[in-house]
Amino acid sequence: MKATDLRFAQWFVLVNAAVPGALLAWDAAHHRLGANPVNFAILTTGLLALIFLLLTLLVTPLRSLTGWNWINFSRRTLGLYAFFYATTHFLIFFFLDRGGSLASTLSEMVKRNYLIVGSLGLFVMLPLAVTSTNAMIKRLGGQRWRALHRLTYVAASAGVIHYYMQSKKDVRQPLAFAAVLLILLGYRLLVAARKTQSAPTKAAAAKP
Ligand code: HEM
Repeated sequence: MKATDLRFAQWFVLVNAAVPGALLAWDAAHHRLGANPVNFAILTTGLLALIFLLLTLLVTPLRSLTGWNWINFSRRTLGLYAFFYATTHFLIFFFLDRGGSLASTLSEMVKRNYLIVGSLGLFVMLPLAVTSTNAMIKRLGGQRWRALHRLTYVAASAGVIHYYMQSKKDVRQPLAFAAVLLILLGYRLLVAARKTQSAPTKAAAAKP
């Protein structure tokens, strides 16, 4: 792929991933979020966080199945957007739903257990965001960085469980998200199992 095409793809993802957030902010500024605007904003940003987490997890399988190595750039952008939407989701809850009160937030977490699961998801995303720069990748080394970034699996799983737990009656959508997550994680398990299977065979073949 040409450098200019790659630059275009980078801008395309960067700008488009911001669109749902910008639309939400626009509607909020024009009082168009319905009867319960705070809840609407919480639900929308939560859903966006989860969608971007799953999109982040989609990049590697899509790259290896299609050979489109150039899409690798989008993993960091999509992951940072997931973190951005999850943080916004939490901040709206904290400041607008709980009035910025730590005591009220904590007591609500004790009452509604799904908030603890969601917080775990957000908490593990912090080191991922902090170590997303090229300098940090270099500092940690590829292997340690990759190991740390497996926390994305924890964040996405916590996000899906949190979604399922907070759903009242209709759990079809959270279950659909869970199915997508299982496919994305299952793919990785399959690849890892194949690697460990072929490793002894390769070692035996290499012996004189
Ligand atoms: C990885 C981090 C997180 C993800 C992916 C996530 C995702 C979601 C999703 C998908 C929903 C449901 C949206 C819908 O029904 O349309 C939701 C709801 C909600 N989340 Fe999160 N969430 C995360 C973290 C948090 C945190 C840290 C808090 C606060 C401590 C929180 C508080 C809430 C609340 C209050 C609701 C709305 C519940 C309701 O009104 O019934 N979430 N979240």
